[in-house]
Amino acid sequence: MTTIGIHDIELATGHYVLHLDDLAAYNGVDPMKYHAGLGQDEMSVVAPDEDIVTMAASAAAALLARTGTAGIRTVFFATETGVDQSKAAATWVHKLLGLPQNVRVTELKQACYAGTVALQAALGIVSRNPAERVLVIASDIARYELDSPGEPTQGAGAVAMLIGANPALLEIEPHSGLFTAEVDDFWRPNGSNTAVVDGKLSVSAYLDALSGSWEDLQAAGGPAVSEIDRMIYHQPFTKMARKAQTRLREITGGTAQNDAALQTQEDALAAAASYNRRLGNTYTASLYSGLISLLDNDPADLTGKRLGLFSYGSGSVSELFTGIVQDGYRQVRDSSRVAKLLDEREKLSVARYRELHESVSYADCVTPKVTASPFRYVGTSDQARKYERV
Ligand code: HMG
Repeated sequence: MTTIGIHDIELATGHYVLHLDDLAAYNGVDPMKYHAGLGQDEMSVVAPDEDIVTMAASAAAALLARTGTAGIRTVFFATETGVDQSKAAATWVHKLLGLPQNVRVTELKQACYAGTVALQAALGIVSRNPAERVLVIASDIARYELDSPGEPTQGAGAVAMLIGANPALLEIEPHSGLFTAEVDDFWRPNGSNTAVVDGKLSVSAYLDALSGSWEDLQAAGGPAVSEIDRMIYHQPFTKMARKAQTRLREITGGTAQNDAALQTQEDALAAAASYNRRLGNTYTASLYSGLISLLDNDPADLTGKRLGLFSYGSGSVSELFTGIVQDGYRQVRDSSRVAKLLDEREKLSVARYRELHESVSYADCVTPKVTASPFRYVGTSDQARKYERV
């Protein structure tokens, strides 16, 4: 039987890192509020010559170096940090990667959820023609106002996934739990570089969406909680996954059997949070960086284990689905690559971070050469963005 799912996956992030101890000292806040209260240690920050396109191309190039491009006829780019109101960010990525012209590319938006709808659409394309493969990229830069409660939950990153038949990493199962409720918990108005957020409402909207998705998954015939070995959640800050786990335990009754299953999942929370604690919120990429983090850092052999994945995008849309980890998954990726990438980021002072935060602009410019990634944003000329392969 042909299975379909995530064949390979890779991550890229920004050039800089801001340590939250430094931000806490600047803000006069107990650093434990960030480390324990939010579950965050660091945040990635992009250089002036980086953006969602350069991070996306870097993640995809690292992936395609292993898999090649054969069979790719679709590129889906999920983001809520769009750099143009009309042109899909995927058009630049398509060029930077040197993909053939007989490929459809597009951009998808629904806050942090869009990576999941891209994945689901990709599964549909592959089920129609198993010879095709789909490149799904989720890339975002989380920016809130300076000195706001959301500030320590900022971050930047991209995840690229190759979706295909007989996947080497994760077979995605057919059932999904879906939930939509129009709510003003978080949004980014046209013309604004930072999100508007009602933090408390966003946390309760996320948890209500989890309950709604879980009920729908059960109604759709999905697995019982005892049949899910590990849960991975969208992680706007990693403590949110812990809150979600508590909610799941409450709504599934917390029976003895459930407790055993959920205890294993509790241990998995730490593995799935390992990279996200250092990246910050990567919006559309967050759930999938959590997946990479789990695959790289869970000491147990996950072969044959069922993972539950909860995707949430403010506004709000959520989806809970499951996948089975494939035999040989540890041979697919270099599990030390992401930690190395995170270690290699250049440390920022708070003063320089604040300058960079306030300098985001869509006006014509030429950018300084800073990034160490293979792709850079050269600048904007006559309102058109230009990129190069370094
Ligand atoms: P805040 O004002 O920092 O909240 O805002 P707080 O004062 O309640 O503190 C947070 C936690 O730190 C609390 O723990 C405190 O007790 C604890 P909790 O009650 O939550 O368990 N704390 C401490 N712990 C240890 N030592 C201490 C200490 N002091 C306090 N000394 C908030 C927090 C998340 C609201 C804020 O950061 C924010 O607005 N973030 C942005 C919005 C967000 O991330 N929402 C999450 C759900 S919505 C979502 O996931 C979608 C999103 O990704 C966007 C999209 O979909 O596109 C955001």
